[in-house]
Amino acid sequence: MASKTSTRSTLSWLLLLCLAFTLLVGHSTSQNDRKAYIVYMGNRKMDEVSTSSLHTSMLQDVIGSTRSESLIYSYSRSFSGFAAELTEQEAQKIAGMEGVVSVFPSQQNQLHTTRSWDFLGFPQNVQRRPIESDIIIGVLDSGIWPESESFSDKGFGLAPTKWRGTCQASINFTCNNKIIGAQYYRRSGVFGGNDVKSPRDSEGHGTHTASTAAGNLVSGASLLGYGLGTARGGVPSARIAVYKICWFDGCDDADILAAFDDAIADGVDIISLSVGGHHAREYFNDPIAIGGFHAMRNGILTSMSAGNDGPRRSTTANVAPWSLSVAASTIDRKFSTQVQLGNNNIYEGISINTFDLNNKQYPIIYGGDAPNTIKGFQSSDSRYCLNNSLDQALVKGKIVLCDFRLDGSGEFVAGAVGTVMQGQESQDFAQSYPLPASYLRLVDGSKVYSYIKSTRGATATIQKSKEVKDIIAPYIVSFSSRGPSNITRNILKPDLAAPGVHILAAWSQISPISGVTGDKRMLPYNIISGTSMACPHATGAAAYIKSFHPTWSPAAIKSALMTTAVPMTAQKNPDAEYAYGTGYINPLKAPHPGLIYDIDALDYINFLCVEGYSTYLLRLVTGDYSTCSRATNGTVFDLNYPSFAIFVSPSKYFSQVYHRTVTNVGSPTSTYKATVTGTPAGLRIEVKPNVLAFTSLGQNLTFALTIEGTTNKDIVSASLVWDDGTFQVRSPIVVGL
Ligand SMILES: *[C@@H]1O[C@H](CO)[C@@H](O)[C@H](O)[C@H]1NC(C)=O
Ligand SMILES: *[C@@H]1O[C@H](CO)[C@@H](O)[C@H](O)[C@H]1NC(C)=O
Ligand SMILES: *[C@@H]1O[C@H](CO)[C@@H](O)[C@H](O)[C@H]1NC(C)=O
Ligand SMILES: *[C@@H]1O[C@H](CO)[C@@H](O)[C@H](O)[C@H]1NC(C)=O
Ligand SMILES: *[C@@H]1O[C@H](CO)[C@@H](O)[C@H](O)[C@H]1NC(C)=O
Repeated sequence: MASKTSTRSTLSWLLLLCLAFTLLVGHSTSQNDRKAYIVYMGNRKMDEVSTSSLHTSMLQDVIGSTRSESLIYSYSRSFSGFAAELTEQEAQKIAGMEGVVSVFPSQQNQLHTTRSWDFLGFPQNVQRRPIESDIIIGVLDSGIWPESESFSDKGFGLAPTKWRGTCQASINFTCNNKIIGAQYYRRSGVFGGNDVKSPRDSEGHGTHTASTAAGNLVSGASLLGYGLGTARGGVPSARIAVYKICWFDGCDDADILAAFDDAIADGVDIISLSVGGHHAREYFNDPIAIGGFHAMRNGILTSMSAGNDGPRRSTTANVAPWSLSVAASTIDRKFSTQVQLGNNNIYEGISINTFDLNNKQYPIIYGGDAPNTIKGFQSSDSRYCLNNSLDQALVKGKIVLCDFRLDGSGEFVAGAVGTVMQGQESQDFAQSYPLPASYLRLVDGSKVYSYIKSTRGATATIQKSKEVKDIIAPYIVSFSSRGPSNITRNILKPDLAAPGVHILAAWSQISPISGVTGDKRMLPYNIISGTSMACPHATGAAAYIKSFHPTWSPAAIKSALMTTAVPMTAQKNPDAEYAYGTGYINPLKAPHPGLIYDIDALDYINFLCVEGYSTYLLRLVTGDYSTCSRATNGTVFDLNYPSFAIFVSPSKYFSQVYHRTVTNVGSPTSTYKATVTGTPAGLRIEVKPNVLAFTSLGQNLTFALTIEGTTNKDIVSASLVWDDGTFQVRSPIVVGL
């Protein structure tokens, strides 16, 4: 808490609202110099059995035959690679072996209703295709609560015949015709906290995300009356395949890759992954990018949360161009919680406070005046109400004023009746706490402080929260990770936004809604926030598109989502496209984009060539003999991405051409005209040709877009719209410094 950075990072992990224990507890192995590494070897070149035995023999070559138990996973169903316990020297040796693309230590990642779909203009009675029930969504998360009404299989037929996955036998867990498969992955073998050794979710997060993407319609759902309505997923008829990769201490790289290996081979249609690190990683040192790449080659789109490390720039963790990166926007639901002092002054804070103190006034004390000195804490700790820092004798039965927004566990454990927190962090999302709580702006908090200091026998009460309409929604919430991509800055990330604030969805019934142990409120539905919640909205929308266009490529689905997104504005979002990408999803319109920007695997490979990956590595990754010299138009500017981005030097003239191809999926005969709006001062944007006349469906036409000029602003943008009178196909054009 001493420096600003650590304050910030404390808050960042608190924003991962669903993980109670985020301390990165390293796996302590008995072979103390060995740790888990991932050896990635690209495409599978042989059958599963031979691929596995290749892994074993490589490992034996390096560490001797005595220690073959150090193999953790052999990835051989959808691609090739393995995870093993290795010393650094052994890892280096393997990195030099033939056929190896990359070797990297396995790291821990974090887990980063239904009003939200209605808010998106996607009502219950939208047109549905019967094929929706053949769509399988693979959810890589903390498992699932199978008894939830959101996952009842009433009315569901047998699993689609294409399904090749399994339901891992475990005590007290059964699949059904809604949850058609479930497996868990735990390379470390270490279980802690509330963990259960089964696909069952003891955390809540995986249940929440799965029900947002594909939960059934459940009427009368609420969090003790809050968010009351019909809980539902984007595609309520779709099936769910569960891959449990997250545990009490996070989500391990090696487990994530194992889940991808299975999900791709099992035949899922879309992968939803609300998990990530705190920053972006090189594509082939990142299990989420690697898994997403092989998913894409198998026609499966991976939808990923951008991350919860905003509002700082370049914090988007999941940036692979072949997958979808989703930012979190607000919906029109917010929570307001009043604090009333003994002097009758009332201050309006935020929180989701389901507790009712019945207007009773309780003594209020400043945390800084109640340090637990016996345990060695000082006022400088207790003012923040850190765990164990408060003196129970002084705090019990009182309301405590704290100088920071934490999870309330310090006050709760000390026996406080309630807590009033004050701080400068954004007031744009409310959380649940294990006791009555409200989070005040600093200006109001300091008045509470003065009142406490100037009044003998100071008292206060905290009201139950009021659910109020947020008339300025949607906007991007402060914690949503911002672009640009730290790996390829000339590709705009995040790609788009979806609701990720105050989302009501199903919950695990062995996990308290505040995430704090001792909170007795274990409920079937919970309201939480995170890019984790935004991701499954995009997943659901992608699955909805897939039910109309089962043969569309992952890039085509992505393009449809991006070009139909509702524009957002820089007035409400100072980081503009780095906050919201192309805008917020419009699931109703997304199956009917008019034109798509398609990209096939070879295009991504050409792009990687030009980005500096060698022919040798790419041959391994792709398993074919494509060479980098084939990449004539393969620069990042010619990757057929549905948005345009460039980084330039301040006030220095630049000129850049982008080549694009659009495929007609609207009306067979149609004439699209290009309009560029909002061209920033100092820049010129030209589209050639600016009319595209299509004569058939599936026809491809190309155009070139040129941006030139100078700018000295850190981000400026315009948009290109292709319009035929029926369809408007919009792409942002973003110039950054
Ligand atoms: C099985 O799960 C149910 C539902 O949560 C629970 O009530 C029961 O105690 C569990 N039984 C065992 C043996 O874990
Ligand atoms: C972006 O990458 C650079 C270089 O790898 C690194 O120094 C920087 O910390 C990264 N930024 C973030 C926000 O991760
Ligand atoms: C305090 O401890 C509780 C219980 O061990 C834990 O759930 C919580 O996350 C901790 N809070 C903080 C802010 O460290
Ligand atoms: C490739 O680049 C050339 C020259 O830059 C351009 O004329 C051509 O249209 C591009 N081809 C495609 C398919 O983008
Ligand atoms: C249009 O482009 C797509 C993607 O590159 C390709 O699969 C398709 O065959 C092309 N269509 C025609 C009619 O050439």
